[in-house]
Amino acid sequence: MSDTENKGQQMWGGRFAAQPSDIMQSINASIDIDKRMVLQDVAGSRAHADMLAECGIISEEDNEKIQGGLDQVLDEVKAGTFPYRVELEDIHMNVEARLKELIGEPAGRLHTARSRNDQVVTDFRLWVRGALTEAQAGLLALQKVLVRRAGETAETVMPGFTHLQTAQPVTLGHHLLAYVEMAERDRGRLHDAALRLNESPLGAAALAGTGFPIDRDMTAEALGFDRPMANSLDAVSARDFALEALAALSIAATHLSRLAEELVLWTSAQFGFAVLSDEWSTGSSIMPQKRNPDAAELIRAKASLIAGQFASLQGAVKALPLAYAKDLQDDKRLTFEAFDTYGLCVKAMTGMIETVSFNAANMRAAAAKGFSTATDLADYLVREMKMPFRDAHHVTGRIVALAEADGVDLAALPLQKMQTVEPRLTDDVFSVLSVEASAASRQSYGGASPVRVAEQVTLWKTRLGLEADISE
Ligand code: ARG
Repeated sequence: MSDTENKGQQMWGGRFAAQPSDIMQSINASIDIDKRMVLQDVAGSRAHADMLAECGIISEEDNEKIQGGLDQVLDEVKAGTFPYRVELEDIHMNVEARLKELIGEPAGRLHTARSRNDQVVTDFRLWVRGALTEAQAGLLALQKVLVRRAGETAETVMPGFTHLQTAQPVTLGHHLLAYVEMAERDRGRLHDAALRLNESPLGAAALAGTGFPIDRDMTAEALGFDRPMANSLDAVSARDFALEALAALSIAATHLSRLAEELVLWTSAQFGFAVLSDEWSTGSSIMPQKRNPDAAELIRAKASLIAGQFASLQGAVKALPLAYAKDLQDDKRLTFEAFDTYGLCVKAMTGMIETVSFNAANMRAAAAKGFSTATDLADYLVREMKMPFRDAHHVTGRIVALAEADGVDLAALPLQKMQTVEPRLTDDVFSVLSVEASAASRQSYGGASPVRVAEQVTLWKTRLGLEADISE
C-alpha cells in the first residue's frame, strides 16, 4: 500500500506492518504543542526547497509547486482551516502531509537532504529568537513605566531596608530605578542569548550531514541566521540555546518576583506605602474590605515555575549522549510555557506599576522610625568633631539608647539629653537628623539623593527613548 493510498499510514511506516497503539501515539505526538511553530516550519521548508532547486537537487518545477503548496498551507493556517492531525505526530509531518494532499508527488521531494532532527531544531531556534525579541520588548515597556514613576518620586522619602529592618532613608525614585537597572541587565541577557542562538542547524540532516551537494550558507542566510553550524552532531542535539534563554528568563522573572514581593509588602495595612488600582486588585468572597495583590503574588509564584522549566530542560539534556533523542521533544513545551508565563507576568507588573498610587506621608513617617538617621549623626560627629568613625558609632549608639528609652525619634530627642553623651553638640546637629536631610545628603555617585535620582531619570529617559513618547 502506498502512502498516497493510505493517509493514516505513518510517514516512516515502510518497514512496519501494524499501526502504533493508541497509547504509543499519545505519548509520541507533539502536535498540540509544536503547532505553534507552523510559521517557522513553513519558512524552513521554503528555504530548504529553494536551496535544493538552486543546487540542482530538485527541479525548478518541483520547487515552484512546493512553494505554491506552502502558500496554500499558510493561507489555511491563517484562515484557521489547516487540519492538524494527531496521527501525524508533529508539525513537520503535518505540514508535509498536507503539502502532499495539495500538490501530490513533488511534496515527497522536499525532505531530500533533511531530517526532522535538523528541521525541528531549526524551527525551534527561529521560534526562540522571536520570543526573545518579544520578551525584551515587554521588559522595555516595564522599564519605561518604572522610569516615569521614578521621575515623579525622585524626592519622595521612604525607608531603605536591610534585613527588612529600617536602615537609612532613601527615595522612592531611587528604589524604583534599582529595578530599571535589573531590567536592563535582564534585557542584555536575553539579547546575548539571541546572538549566540543565531546559527543554522539546517542541513545537518539526521546527525551526520548529507551526501547531497547542499548549500547550507544559502539556507542560513534565507532564515536570517548568521552562519550554518559547523558540526552536524552538535547542530541536531544542542539545546543550550534554549537553556540559555530559559536561564535568562528565569533571572528576569526572579527580578519581577522581588518587585512583586515589594508590592505585596507595600500594599499591606502594616506598611501602607501603596494602593494598587482597582484594575490590578482583587476582592475576597467573604471579607468585603479586602483588596488583594493577587497579580503580584502570582508573579512571585510563577517565577518558580520558570526556574522549574529551566531545571526540567537541563535535566532532560544533561544525560543525553549525542545526537538526537526523543527526550528533546519536550524542550518546546517547557520553553513555550516559560515564555508565555514571563510575557504575562511582565505585562501584569507593568500595569501594576503604571497605576499604583504611593502614600508619600506613610512612607515618610516610616522612614523616620527606627532611628534611621543614626548614621547621619555618626557622620556628623566625624565631620564636625573630627571623631574617628568607630568612636562616633559608639557615641551615636548611646544617644540612640536614650531616644529609645524616651520612646522618641532622634530628631525629637532634646539637645540636653544628647549633651549628656557628647557635651560639644549644639542645635546645629538637628540639621542632619531629618529624613529629608539624610536622603538629600546621599549624593555620592549611585546614591539615593533626589539630585542623583533626577540625573539618572534624565539619563534613562534618553537611553530608553522616553522623551520622544511622552509629553511632559
Ligand atoms: N517532534 C520531534 C521533536 O520535537 C521531531 C524530531 C523527531 N525526530 C525523530 N527522529 N523522531 O523533537
